[in-house]
Amino acid sequence: MHPLADTIVVGKQILQFDCVDSTNSYLKENAQLFPNGTVAIAREQYAGKGRRGKRWVSQAGMALSMSVLLTEVEMEAVPLLPLFCGIGASRALSSYFDCGATLKWPNDVLVGEKKLAGILCESRILGSRVAVVCGIGVNVRQPESFFTENQLPYGTSILSQTGREISLEEVAYRLLAAFDQVLEQYRHEGPEELLKEYSAVCVTLGREVQVEQAGVIRQGVARSVERDGSLCCCGEEIFCVHGGEASVRGLYGYV
Ligand code: BTN
Repeated sequence: MHPLADTIVVGKQILQFDCVDSTNSYLKENAQLFPNGTVAIAREQYAGKGRRGKRWVSQAGMALSMSVLLTEVEMEAVPLLPLFCGIGASRALSSYFDCGATLKWPNDVLVGEKKLAGILCESRILGSRVAVVCGIGVNVRQPESFFTENQLPYGTSILSQTGREISLEEVAYRLLAAFDQVLEQYRHEGPEELLKEYSAVCVTLGREVQVEQAGVIRQGVARSVERDGSLCCCGEEIFCVHGGEASVRGLYGYV
C-alpha cells in the first residue's frame, strides 16, 4: 500500500507485515520510533487481541487487520477515541450496504444485527504525552459458511452481506481516510457534533441491555452516551459504564 496523499495525519507512513503477533502490540511497543498517524497492516496476526483481554482470530487474506498510532493525543480525547474510530468505520463501511453500518456501544461495527468489525484502542505513556493505538479488524472476504462452520452466529463479512469480493486494500484506504476526517473534525470543532453523530448510529441506545462489569451484571435501558464516552443506563438505578471495562448485550439477542 502507498502512503496517503490526501490525509492530514493518518497514513503518511504505512508498515506492512506478512505476519506479526498483533498490529496493536507492534505499534504500542514501538510507539517512540514512528511519527503520529503511522499505520500498521498485517496479512496475518498470530496473537490478535480483542476487547477485554479476548483473542481476536482472523484468517489471512480474508479479514483486514490494521492499527493507527496517534502520538499527539490530549488527555480528554483518550476515552473518546474508541467512539471516534467507530464513527470513522461506520462512515467508511456504510457505503457497502443499503442499510448502512451501525455501532453497538462502544464500537462494534454492525450490519443489521451482525458484527462486521471490531475496534480495540490501547494507550501508553510516551514521555510527557499519551500515545494511543487504534486497531480495527474487519471481516471482508469470508463466505457465509465461514461463520456457520466456526460457530460465529453473530459474525458477518462484506462478502457474505453483499456477494462482493472487495479488496482488503480498498477497505483499508476508505477507513484511513474516514478516520483522518473524524480526527480533523474533532481538532476543529471539539466532540459535540461527533457525539451527536455517534448517538445517531449507535443501535444500543433505547434498547434493554445487560451490562457486565467486574463480574457484576446489571440490566437497564441504554439512555445516553456521555461526554466521556460512557454509556448511561436506566434500570432499578441509573448507572454509567466505561467502554474499556464493560460488556453489553441486548436482552433479546446480540444487540
Ligand atoms: C473486538 O471487537 O474485540 C476488538 C477487535 C480488534 C481487532 C483488531 S485487528 C487489528 C488490531 N490488532 C489487534 O491485535 N487487535 C486489533
